[in-house]
Amino acid sequence: MDEKLKNFYDLFERRKSVREFQDRPIGTDVLGRLLETLRRSQSAANRQPWRFIVIEKKDRAELNDALTKDGFRGAPIIIAACAEPKEAWIRKTDKVNYAWVDVSIAVTEMICAATAEGLGTCWIASLEPARVKKILGIPEDMDIVALIALGWPNEELKREEKARKPLEEIIRYGKWQG
Ligand SMILES: Cc1cc2nc3c(=O)[nH]c(=O)nc-3n(C[C@H](O)[C@H](O)[C@H](O)COP(=O)(O)O)c2cc1C
Repeated sequence: MDEKLKNFYDLFERRKSVREFQDRPIGTDVLGRLLETLRRSQSAANRQPWRFIVIEKKDRAELNDALTKDGFRGAPIIIAACAEPKEAWIRKTDKVNYAWVDVSIAVTEMICAATAEGLGTCWIASLEPARVKKILGIPEDMDIVALIALGWPNEELKREEKARKPLEEIIRYGKWQG
């Protein structure tokens, strides 16, 4: 692991969405560390309402057909992140189910770890849930939240200065109408 990336802000400057990958496998040691971050992630009331499917390129003929971008097909690993709403914490006051929040946090933590390993990642939400669930044999009562493409990037890992809303627009102090 790159010593410099132990600093979170250095890591933050590296993370970007990567859509082209080298034709080079991810070692089982690296993958093992990433899967541990999923397992140990935080979740509301520690309910861990998630399941993850690790799909290697050799097993992806059908799934690759369902992907929207060619570059994703070259990723050595795609992880399907699934939420299990019936296992999740539900806020009593308004019945909000936290399954998707919990899965998204676990995935984000794994994406940070992958960046620290020097891997490129891309969150893929643009998919046909029914089709992907069928291909992967995901049960009816589970939701597919995302596919995460993982692989050694074809480009330098350096955050891109993409347009972001200014702080003044997105942060309020004290109350909504500051
Ligand atoms: C929830 C979510 C869904 C996304 N879905 C897709 C997707 O389907 N296809 C894609 O190419 N990128 C997808 N992205 C990547 C975003 O386009 C990207 O994060 C955004 O443009 C900012 O760029 P950056 O990640 O390089 O900072 C997604 C990102 C998030 C967080």
